[in-house]
Amino acid sequence: MKRIFLIVGARPNFVKAAPLYRSLVEAGFADVRIIHTGQHYDFNMSDIFFRDLDLPSPDVNLEVGSGSHGKQTGEMLIKLDDYFYRENPDLVVVFGDTNSTLAGALAAVKLGIKLAHVEAGARSFDLSMPEEINRILTDRVSDLLFVPDEYAEKNLLKEGIPAEKVFNVGNILMDALINNFSKIENLSTGVLEKFGVRPLGYGVVTIHRAHNVDDSRRLNQIIEILNQLSSKYDLIFPIHPRTLKRIRSFDVVLNNKIKLVDPLGYLEFVGLLMNAAFVLTDSGGVQTESYFLNVPCITLRENTEWLSTIDSGTNFLTGLDWRKIQSVLNELKDKGFRPNRKEIPYWDGKTSNRVASIIKDYLDQGGQN
Ligand code: UD1
Ligand code: UDP
Repeated sequence: MKRIFLIVGARPNFVKAAPLYRSLVEAGFADVRIIHTGQHYDFNMSDIFFRDLDLPSPDVNLEVGSGSHGKQTGEMLIKLDDYFYRENPDLVVVFGDTNSTLAGALAAVKLGIKLAHVEAGARSFDLSMPEEINRILTDRVSDLLFVPDEYAEKNLLKEGIPAEKVFNVGNILMDALINNFSKIENLSTGVLEKFGVRPLGYGVVTIHRAHNVDDSRRLNQIIEILNQLSSKYDLIFPIHPRTLKRIRSFDVVLNNKIKLVDPLGYLEFVGLLMNAAFVLTDSGGVQTESYFLNVPCITLRENTEWLSTIDSGTNFLTGLDWRKIQSVLNELKDKGFRPNRKEIPYWDGKTSNRVASIIKDYLDQGGQN
């Protein structure tokens, strides 16, 4: 049996790892382990995802916790290095663009262990985003680069990554949605009752990007937008701990019509999202999940690594421009808040099976591209 380690640490990593864990276990050629760095640790940011996504508890939790980027990534690197050295896996798989992704990648390649990156090639072309640094560095050292769309594929080829290492397999977040869809549908009515809203009668908000919340002027602008919107729409805002901390420390005042709630588990969150009129977000994952659900996504950023969702007609990049936001919402209202979505190739729920089969062939051939 081959040994494959899946490295996770933050909320989006868990959602991306779950479908691949399942596909690899079903394929039966490898002993698959989940290594948790401990980057996220609150119940609602970590354990709840293992429960919701039927992921077994991690084989190890390195309990690194919060800290500056350097300290957090450095501590992960030290602990992963030690663990990989002792356990000697055949392949390490990292997901997305978090500090756990970069630490897993560096720890693997420094020990000469083969490395696969799921969601490779995504680029915002904004080097002030910590995630962009994590993506570029991880891609540069990966042996297998699993890209979600044609934009990502082209980005890697332009950066000089050899084509034989790059595989357009689609977006693994669609697999998580499809694998869990009946569970989500079953609980969605209860979720709406819990929050006291009707289908298409509310908007969901998620904001956590450092660029948006660590700068008090920008955070104030966002809160102003939400306050204005709340006079017309019910807004439910499951708040990320980084954002809550900033709102408290900057003394920002949120209108009490905005329903501020703890971060939600995956099933509940998607259950809420699927019936929303719209979502306002700066999340990467939510931009793509709203594509699948055909829920309009208003992205409060100036750039995005998910141009394919803009092409598909579900994502609207407004930045913090209040006029743009208003005009997008007015147009959407006329269309009953459901855009005419164009399909994105391979976003079909079969991404994790494709990845598992490519990994199997790669390891069978002794790790040669
Ligand atoms: C991280 C990722 C980001 C991803 C996000 C998903 C990096 C560089 N950033 O950002 O790409 O979009 O996760 O949610 O890896 N905190 C808690 N409890 C927790 C976790 C965090 O209270 O369980 C608080 C701490 O005060 C911490 C802050 O949130 O300092 C930020 O956490 P951190 O993991 O550093 O970054 P995120 O903003 O979560
Ligand atoms: N999510 C969740 N509960 C929430 C907010 C988000 O389960 O309250 C899920 C969401 O469906 C997606 C993932 O968390 O699968 C995205 O994480 P996040 O937005 O924190 O990170 P990003 O994708 O921006 O890196």
